[in-house]
Amino acid sequence: MITDFIIVGSGIAGLRAAIALAPAGRVLVLTKADPEESNTGYAQGGIAVAVGAGDSPALHAADTLRAGDGLCDEGAVDVLVGNGPRYVRELVDWGTRFDRDGDGQLALGREAAHSVRRVLHAGDATGREIGRVLWKRASAFGSVATINHAFVTDLVMGGGAVRGVHYVDRDGARHEVSARAVLLATGGAGQLFRETTNPPVATGDGIALGYRAGARLADLEFVQFHPTALNRAGAPRFLISEALRGEGARLVNDRGEAFMTRVHADGDLAPRDVVARAIAREMERTGAPVYLTLAHLDAGYVCARFPTIADMCRRIGLDLARDPIPVGPAAHYIMGGVDTDEWGRTSLPGLFAAGEVACTGVHGANRLASNSLLEGLVFGARAAIAMQEPPAAAALKADRVVAGGSWLASPQPPFISHLSPAEIRDLMWRSVGLFRTREGLEAAVATLDAAYQHQRDRLSIDADGWRQVNLVTAARLVARAALRREESRGAHFRLDFPVRDDEHWKRHIVDVRGAE
Ligand code: SIN
Repeated sequence: MITDFIIVGSGIAGLRAAIALAPAGRVLVLTKADPEESNTGYAQGGIAVAVGAGDSPALHAADTLRAGDGLCDEGAVDVLVGNGPRYVRELVDWGTRFDRDGDGQLALGREAAHSVRRVLHAGDATGREIGRVLWKRASAFGSVATINHAFVTDLVMGGGAVRGVHYVDRDGARHEVSARAVLLATGGAGQLFRETTNPPVATGDGIALGYRAGARLADLEFVQFHPTALNRAGAPRFLISEALRGEGARLVNDRGEAFMTRVHADGDLAPRDVVARAIAREMERTGAPVYLTLAHLDAGYVCARFPTIADMCRRIGLDLARDPIPVGPAAHYIMGGVDTDEWGRTSLPGLFAAGEVACTGVHGANRLASNSLLEGLVFGARAAIAMQEPPAAAALKADRVVAGGSWLASPQPPFISHLSPAEIRDLMWRSVGLFRTREGLEAAVATLDAAYQHQRDRLSIDADGWRQVNLVTAARLVARAALRREESRGAHFRLDFPVRDDEHWKRHIVDVRGAE
């Protein structure tokens, strides 16, 4: 099959790009599951954008840089916050129903590390609402086609450029599609960890695809652990949005003590990595769960503002407005990914990346809450512009250092011999999670290296096999990156190197398959 543009993934970045590309040619959107299944659809808190009175892109940039703990790419941050208002206004014009206040103005929520209220929301299902509008708009173009349950296994290379993709359909049949340009919009990798807020589709496929093709990958050690996933045995690790704390919810231990005031001046609204580690430590110290309590807030308001979370709690017998809700950290977002410039260009001509799979550098070592939907929106649109230009590779930015190591030249395609997905997730949670040490990371790397072996007959790998290949590929890259960075910064916390070390580590580390 031949098309003009291929988009792998159907979250906010992919759909926004499809809309921008539709007038320029045939667009094929490949989704590996049902089209609504993406991290976008699970985004509760909202979309951060400087549109409120007293706010400005400069203030939004300052908060983003502070959260990023010295590692944000300032140029990319300026692009994000400067273009955000225009792209969000467009969403409103297209019919996105963000909540409004009594005067009909857009209502602005508060989340951790934001100095002002700046989060637009649609109840607690903002991602779903934006996805609805983008799908409707993309589907109205006759030039946009979608194939669901199409698992992309490899990028097709020719003359050093990306020329298309291979995918396996739901019946196991293999296909090849050629195109002028391919956009990876595959989302995140929360499923690398036993505890995650992410849906089952978030298996790090884009990272693995990029790696196999030889694209540069950056900052893979930076994985954000959300502090408050539902923590009830037998229940899913459902996200309990930070927006609840923005509205006044408090974190308490089993004795009802608001322990965050002891830990950070911003208390419950301290940066995510700080809150996540504090909760884990408090649970260890007391040997008991930590809870979020909203009992002091107006019950009617709580249930009206957070209907999805209230419903989830109700299904497991909890009243969100009255009962203490047990919460704990879970993998939520990967700041690293396929290295891109400010137009979504990767190191391979013809290949673009946008959204969570990309590493534009906007998040640095720790993403500011609700910047992820904005990133997908802004950089999805920008990648679509660059995809219409003659193919060009992104230059390596000055603050990026290409890591060496013969391990990067591993044979491909790999085959996982003995580790099950559950074993990989368990290993990653225990050894590459909130608190990392050299000992634990070395053991994890050794186990993942051993799991990564040559598979002779690539044609015999089905979609499940590829999922497992991708999981171990991404896990191995994340674990190795975490072992390499001997400091603590943002979401990457090393018990054996607990201090930020700008002299040696204020830089982005890049991995490329085959680099020596
Ligand atoms: C949340 O609602 O707490 C998550 C929002 C985000 O990850 O930005």
